[in-house]
Amino acid sequence: MDIIKIPFNKPYLTGKEMHYIYQAVYSGKISGNGMYTQTCQKYFEERYGIKKALLTTSCTDALEMCAILADIKHGDEVIVPSYTFVSSALAFVRQGAKIVFADSRTDHPGINEDKIEELITSKTKVIVPVHYAGVACDMDKIILLANKYNLLVIEDAAQAIDSFYKGRPLGSIGHMAAFSFHETKNINSGEGGLLAINDARYTKRSEIIWEKGTNRAEFFRGEVNKYGWTDIGSSFLPSEIIAAYLWAQLENLDEIQKRRIEIWQQYYEGLKDLAKNNEVKLPVIPDYATNNGHMFYMICKSADQRNQILSHLKKNGIYAVFHYLSLHKSKFYQQKYTGNDLVQADTYSDCLIRLPFFYELKQEDIKLIINTIKDYYEKNN
Ligand SMILES: Cc1ncc(COP(=O)(O)O)c(C=O)c1O
Repeated sequence: MDIIKIPFNKPYLTGKEMHYIYQAVYSGKISGNGMYTQTCQKYFEERYGIKKALLTTSCTDALEMCAILADIKHGDEVIVPSYTFVSSALAFVRQGAKIVFADSRTDHPGINEDKIEELITSKTKVIVPVHYAGVACDMDKIILLANKYNLLVIEDAAQAIDSFYKGRPLGSIGHMAAFSFHETKNINSGEGGLLAINDARYTKRSEIIWEKGTNRAEFFRGEVNKYGWTDIGSSFLPSEIIAAYLWAQLENLDEIQKRRIEIWQQYYEGLKDLAKNNEVKLPVIPDYATNNGHMFYMICKSADQRNQILSHLKKNGIYAVFHYLSLHKSKFYQQKYTGNDLVQADTYSDCLIRLPFFYELKQEDIKLIINTIKDYYEKNN
């Protein structure tokens, strides 16, 4: 068995997590929507200009809330890139939607914005741009289509904290958005997420869906003198214990981002010769986007080569991984899929490698990873 010396991910602890959890536990208010929840939500609203932020127990939950708020009904169509995580589509499928899968760009795993219009029909209700690796989709093009056809835009910003499109924070552009704080994300709370509402039409209802279909949030603010069942919903809010952990992370966002971007740069500098020789393709950050240091990936020439590199790294104690498998070909959806071949999505499924990426990854470890990749190419050319 290969011994792993460099893992793919290691959740970073800022040092304050247990302190804030302790405070939450002994405050006597450990259910949801307490002081830490509100502090985290306010942080997103103030820093990123989001109209209403609600913590959830995952990004998947936040996307499910979006699907309910968008009033998705049986037969409605939702356009989602095939190269994404299951939840980007699943949240809408649960409400009865038909998913119309879109292909990725040739220069980036994100949705090909120029191919969306041909997928729009009279049944289309929502477009879901996924900001892959925290790099913005071309939102102007997507918003233009949404306005033209009267559609909603729900950003899957799972990986996109503190990233921008033409200076605008991701997650603040679409009608709604969903963030993830899963342990692999820049800011984590083990599992966790956040729903961002940017269209005032949805703010009031979002709180009700969040709190099991009741107007309990209004009651806690003293706006009504009793609360009751007013709509559908679920228990989407996390406990204060999770919010306390998250706050310890958010407080350190700038420092975390700075280090993660340095790691990204070191990978890029170290591997750019390979890209010059066309051995691999490295990430492209379009002019309109920023890099939030979420992930470093490279694209190999073939699935075979990708798998060989993964096992070469593993033999050398380095755990790198591939990423999504095209959803239109998944066991769950392939029988239902009636669209075209999605060549780019399949290429990223076959050829993309994600390299180890976490705050505490040391400079010498990154050097070792780069040299091990170069060593593969020297031996195989
Ligand atoms: C693009 C995307 N959307 C949604 C999710 C789901 O996030 P969560 O695990 O917080 O539910 C992920 C998970 O990594 C993701 O990559």
